Amino acid sequence: MSKAIKQDTRFIHAGAEPDPSTGAIMTPIYQTSTYVQEAPGKNKGYEYARSQNPTRKALEDALAVIENGKYGLAFSSGVAATDAVIKLLMPGDEVIAGNDMYGGTYRLFTKIFEKFGIKFLYVNMQDVNNIKAAITSQTKLIWTETPTNPLMNITDIAAVAALAKQHHILLCVDNTFASPYLQNPLDLGADIVMHSSTKYLGGHSDTIQGALVMNDAGLREQLYFIQKSCGAVPGPMDCFLVLRGIKTLHVRMKEHCANGAVIARWLRNHPKIGKVYWPGFEDHPGYAVARKQMRDFGGMISFELKDDSVEAAMKVLSSTKLFSLAESLGGVESLINHPASMTHASIPKAERIKNGLSDSLIRLSVGIEDAEDLIDDLKQAIG
Ligand SMILES: Cc1ncc(COP(=O)(O)O)c(C=O)c1O
Repeated sequence: MSKAIKQDTRFIHAGAEPDPSTGAIMTPIYQTSTYVQEAPGKNKGYEYARSQNPTRKALEDALAVIENGKYGLAFSSGVAATDAVIKLLMPGDEVIAGNDMYGGTYRLFTKIFEKFGIKFLYVNMQDVNNIKAAITSQTKLIWTETPTNPLMNITDIAAVAALAKQHHILLCVDNTFASPYLQNPLDLGADIVMHSSTKYLGGHSDTIQGALVMNDAGLREQLYFIQKSCGAVPGPMDCFLVLRGIKTLHVRMKEHCANGAVIARWLRNHPKIGKVYWPGFEDHPGYAVARKQMRDFGGMISFELKDDSVEAAMKVLSSTKLFSLAESLGGVESLINHPASMTHASIPKAERIKNGLSDSLIRLSVGIEDAEDLIDDLKQAIG
């Protein structure tokens, strides 16, 4: 599909071709494990569903379109997509990663891949010089999230991409928090974009899934080989759900952004609230970069209470009625989360505190309900 078509139109039509056998406008859920062949090796391009599935193919095409990439690959979870990228590496290779990122990514790196001889260095990626200083002749990959989970720090993707190119290092950007509606890392020079499609792409908290998008055919071949060899593929029903989610991504994201802005500003003026983390504030250290590389600031917000104790945070966490206490984010319904004990519990406490993730930090995934109702809910919970 032509890039001249506007973004909102692309989200609706991405990967959508009428089904060749019936003309069905919606991609059918090809619930099959295998495909009948006319003769050995003579088939319609589909042999076995771990390697190919038409519903997954439609989704993978859609993922490429919405991230302005050439190739998309879908995985059974965001973590499985990350796992595939790290499997490009060899023992002795080094990865530079952000010191503030999703706890499950940190757990995968430290608890699974370190024992295979891959070395991970964690740096503050708000300053590209920290990355530059960590590069060695063994560095093969830079892994960044922006905005980060949960502290909403911003990495300058174009600046890191330029540095990575200069040193022939791959750059992978976890674009889960921004979604392709707000940010397209490939356009800024990244080699791979990763998503937990579980979040904004799916958008309805009803599937676990991951995605990778890239432009380089060789990289696509290597990652496809890992996908089919290791087998972490999503089922066709889940692919259908994400395909459907993508069609309304732009509509949902506009609401997430509008509600996020209202709630971030309201929290900041509340006498009981301490620091509020949201990249749309002009005094956020990453504001200028966020304005440059994002179309808006999103619906993810973290904040601390002035009474910076776990007890005070727990009281708020258990008092909301519209904000449901749950892991995950990016669905139409608002969620509230305690990173220290939930999404980021796998990061050792000393490491968390050192990187600014306090015990009382609360993270909101602002949904697309009425903003006034959401504020009323927070008002009664914060007291
Ligand atoms: C930023 C980010 N990356 C990756 C993941 C992992 O994705 P999944 O839970 O789909 O495996 C998450 C999950 O919360 C996330 O927030």
